[in-house]
Amino acid sequence: SQLFSSSTPPNKLGPNKLQLFSPSKINLFLRILRKRPDNYHDLSSLFQAISLGDTLTIEKVDSPSDKFTCNMPGVPVDSSNLVLKAVNLLRSHTGTNDVKFDIDLYKRCPAQAGLGGGSANAATALYACNKLLGSPCTSEELIEMSAELGSDITFFLSKGTAYCTGRGEIMNEVAPLKDSNDVKCTIVKINLGLSTPTVFKALDYDKLSATDPEEILKQFSEKGTKVSPEYFVNDLQSPAFECLPKLKELKEMCDECDFDTVMMSGSGTSIFCLGESGNSEMWRRVNGRDDVQVFETKFMNRNSEAEWYDEP
Ligand code: C5P
Repeated sequence: SQLFSSSTPPNKLGPNKLQLFSPSKINLFLRILRKRPDNYHDLSSLFQAISLGDTLTIEKVDSPSDKFTCNMPGVPVDSSNLVLKAVNLLRSHTGTNDVKFDIDLYKRCPAQAGLGGGSANAATALYACNKLLGSPCTSEELIEMSAELGSDITFFLSKGTAYCTGRGEIMNEVAPLKDSNDVKCTIVKINLGLSTPTVFKALDYDKLSATDPEEILKQFSEKGTKVSPEYFVNDLQSPAFECLPKLKELKEMCDECDFDTVMMSGSGTSIFCLGESGNSEMWRRVNGRDDVQVFETKFMNRNSEAEWYDEP
């Protein structure tokens, strides 16, 4: 499947330089199915891109080495960063190890949030560097490379809504939800992180929800975010709350704000709230906490390749 056309992108910054928006995501539902022999878990999840994201500026340079800068303290700028792993994989796959890049990552999306920020950056880097190399790889090849780099990177090569299975890397694009343009999505992030493996290790397999993910998907396809509340499930939420009781308390505060939906995204530690708060006093208290960051976002879908370049 051709996820995006291979036409020449609009070169806003010259022939060797691209600036792209790198969105993040929430999981509208996340069902864990089983532990696998390779220690990953089979899951089924509806991923939705949101307008909270980072800006990646990449220039192909005539230089002996890469340069990588990032505005956010604590983000590694060495080869442990997924962006450089992505660039290295693409170069080795295309026999272009002599080509170097200047990369600047302007981050807005918090880390260890369950929003896939780092994964999105890696997918965007794959896409951008492939363009700057003259598109030697097809979108199918980029998808293969993304799956090699991690479980939730492939999603970010989609147009914005996808049903992901396997360990997360099998990406099936689905149509945008019917109320996609109208949904207000507020991200509430506690200033504590959780690593994904930690949360998976705390899973209690007897407490997984029983609902068939295909049925949940069908409900979302038919009704958008207006599905019955029981379909907003995240099997990683209870184990994350066990690891971090303060996150559970924050979720309970958000519950009292009377949004349409309040749920943890991915393996945490962000909570997403859909709709409007019906309890402004409680919402003021959440906003007033000095251990919490709040981001107003919208669902995001890319209709054309040009939209890879634009900040929402
Ligand atoms: O693939 P990724 O590097 O994002 O996964 C990070 C960790 O999360 C894995 O090492 C594994 O512990 C856990 N994981 C899992 N099952 C998945 C995805 C991730 O157990 N489907």
